[in-house]
Amino acid sequence: DDPEDLRDRAPIVTIMGHVDHGKTSLLDYIRDASVAKGEAGGITQHIGAYEVKTQSGKPVTFLDTPGHEAFTAMRARGAKVTDIAIIVVAADDSVMPQTKEAINHAQAAGVPIVIALNKIDKPGANPDKVREELSGINILVEEWGGKYQSQEVSAKTGVGIDDLLEKVLLEAELLELKANPDRNAVGTVIEASLDKGRGYVTTVLVQTGTLQVGDIVLAGPHYGRVKAMTDHRGKKMKKAGPATPVQVLGLTGAPQAGDKIVVMDTERDARELATQRQQL
Ligand code: GTP
Ligand code: NA
Ligand code: MG
Repeated sequence: DDPEDLRDRAPIVTIMGHVDHGKTSLLDYIRDASVAKGEAGGITQHIGAYEVKTQSGKPVTFLDTPGHEAFTAMRARGAKVTDIAIIVVAADDSVMPQTKEAINHAQAAGVPIVIALNKIDKPGANPDKVREELSGINILVEEWGGKYQSQEVSAKTGVGIDDLLEKVLLEAELLELKANPDRNAVGTVIEASLDKGRGYVTTVLVQTGTLQVGDIVLAGPHYGRVKAMTDHRGKKMKKAGPATPVQVLGLTGAPQAGDKIVVMDTERDARELATQRQQL
């Protein structure tokens, strides 16, 4: 990227944590709250990623594929799509094996961590006990003099979630995330499938540049011309800039999660490269 063209972009966030600690509930709450605030119209879809506007007006992009398996699978394919990891720990439970695994994965990837102490609405919730256990694995929270931000939340009532998002934004500021929107798009495939009515549907997270309807793209062994794009609300989009997740119609097949997607100059080049890759 030309450093002069770099502009701020939204942080891309993954939620990880132990089974049943509330990853899906938290993702659903955040997405549904944002959809409720937005214009009526489209049909909300799980497209593998979504962007929300926080209270302070700044956007945050969530990968809607919780669990460190997805995170690890992406990394194994060389895709670096997460800027910040929210580690969820149920405050009525304990730091569990998959909590530690999730923390290890984030740290191995050099991704900063924000702790969400979830289920704070439950009578048995004891967030101090969880903070104590976290300190036992070298995750000392800020309130206790450490460097990790933590926030008590409930994915059921929504309490604390705005504050959690603001803490994510604070973390993002330190990362100085920037990208150049004025170039051909490069992104990563989040998921792809064949839809009876619409053909191949590919969720793409644009990482740099701007993806536009009409662009010729190459993704893994597949290519195509972008026929249409929609966001997670089903709203049609003509353009998608850095850190924007979009559902793309028009590819000739379903690439794999973690495949890079790039804009090509000609359909012929895209087809040739796709054919070569299919023969590998
Ligand atoms: P897996 O994907 O199976 O690992 O679980 P998960 O981490 O996605 O947890 P999930 O969101 O499925 O939540 C597990 C259970 O906890 C569900 O019954 C939720 O309704 C409940 N739950 C999640 N968050 C909260 C919360 O903040 N408060 C209460 N009371 N229940 C919650
Ligand atoms: Na569950
Ligand atoms: Mg889940």
